[in-house]
Amino acid sequence: MPPQARTSTPPLDANDLHESMESRFEAVEEQFREFGQEHVLRFWDRLDTPGREGLLAQAERLGAGLGRWTEAWRSSHERAAGTPAGIEPLEGAIALPSRGEAPGADRKSAREAGEELLRTGRVAILVVAGGQATRLGFDAPKGAFPLGPVSDRSLFELQAQKLRGLARRYGRSLPWYVMTSAATEAPTRALFEANDWWGLEPEAVHLFSQEMVPAFDANGHAVLETMGRIFESPDGHGGVIPALARSGALSQMEARGIDTVFYYQVDNPLVRMADPVFLGFHRDRGAEVSCKVVRKRDPMAKWGVVARVAGRPGVVEYTELGDAERHARDDSGELIYWAGNIAIHVFDTAFLRRMADNADRFLPYHLSPKKVPTVDDSGIPLAPAGPNAEKLERFVFDALPEAERVCVVEADAALEFSPVKNAEGDESPQTARRDLMAVYRSWLDAAGLGEAVEGQQVEIDHSAVDGPEEALAMGARQLEEARDWLHCATEERE
Ligand code: UD1
Repeated sequence: MPPQARTSTPPLDANDLHESMESRFEAVEEQFREFGQEHVLRFWDRLDTPGREGLLAQAERLGAGLGRWTEAWRSSHERAAGTPAGIEPLEGAIALPSRGEAPGADRKSAREAGEELLRTGRVAILVVAGGQATRLGFDAPKGAFPLGPVSDRSLFELQAQKLRGLARRYGRSLPWYVMTSAATEAPTRALFEANDWWGLEPEAVHLFSQEMVPAFDANGHAVLETMGRIFESPDGHGGVIPALARSGALSQMEARGIDTVFYYQVDNPLVRMADPVFLGFHRDRGAEVSCKVVRKRDPMAKWGVVARVAGRPGVVEYTELGDAERHARDDSGELIYWAGNIAIHVFDTAFLRRMADNADRFLPYHLSPKKVPTVDDSGIPLAPAGPNAEKLERFVFDALPEAERVCVVEADAALEFSPVKNAEGDESPQTARRDLMAVYRSWLDAAGLGEAVEGQQVEIDHSAVDGPEEALAMGARQLEEARDWLHCATEERE
């Protein structure tokens, strides 16, 4: 017998195991009773040993947050609904150059400042990709959605190409922090591995997971998904800030001298990755947080708006904007609350640290109705017809009012924003592919190849060409010469 075996603890026999499980159960039951949540354990007697093990492990993991979440549910119900008091239109946004309001020189120096940040390794890229793509009805991480108009490349691959383009341009790999959730982590990792990290250095890609939280019914009771499992869902994109701290990613950034984080959502294939002009404005204006916005023309568009709330910059969600504000227009006919939030930000690392240290204060939970599978009082599965629970979500933009200074930059929606949210209609794969191809066509026009691709489906490899200037610089005079970076097809995709 090896020596260490003699000194190790002898294995528990069945009786000991039973006792240890019962005492763990008692501890959990006491903790859950304290917050009025002991009902989640009511089927204990009907569970077999693996079922009990599973429920205990889950309840022990959730126990630490239970008080916070129960309280968050209660206080959210007490907060008044409707348009926040003291909302005012945004002022001081940096307008599109076409409006003639942002002097060219200003933009040029912003670009130079941004490029310097990129060249000197001060920038990290952060994408939130932990959502469940429920509206899209896609049964895999949204980033795996095939979006390339010709190649069917996934959203993640299109983004990886952009990162390779940045590495080529600025002579160094930018670290890519990808936030997943329990719902998306394993398939996301498998996808990255199966595709050899799409040519990126694997050590430059950091996957980390956000927290999962219970959902509550109309009485504030955590919902059971099955007799032995408490329903959980990701804690919203605002969970990214505590998750960066918890996973060690934030410390890693700090240790590497990264002070600037470019943030975007996985569902926008038009994102101008680490746009140097945006990064430069952020630095030049001494901002702690910057936001890209697009001009809202349709008052019913499901975009939050960047505005001033109680004197501070903030985002007001479309669901919270009252009818009067939503439709209000100025003398020139433009919406007064025009600054649509496209969820593209720059954050100072130090700001993220400050928010993470006080996440419960700065990033409150919001309730959103959700249809979740559950069981009835006899433990029989129920498939609800409509929302039967409220999930708890944090919003990253709730941190905005805490920033010392916020810089808002207007972007052209046609060039930078076309998200994939729905299976059909607006903000669907069809509209995103259409808009992506329109961008490619404008680059091809700049390169003098516009006519040659007329009537064709087009796709450009962002790792080689990422913008009109680069398309022109390739010097291709005919399609044949652009074969390495331009893909065309005559058939329209389904
Ligand atoms: C969001 C914004 C809205 C903005 C719009 C622009 C909110 C509440 N609203 O709306 O102001 O105009 O985007 O596209 O955010 N995600 C996670 N973890 C989660 C939840 C979401 O990583 O727990 C990620 C998703 O993967 C996705 C992104 O966050 O990349 C956006 O989530 P989504 O639920 O689609 O936001 P919207 O309600 O469309």
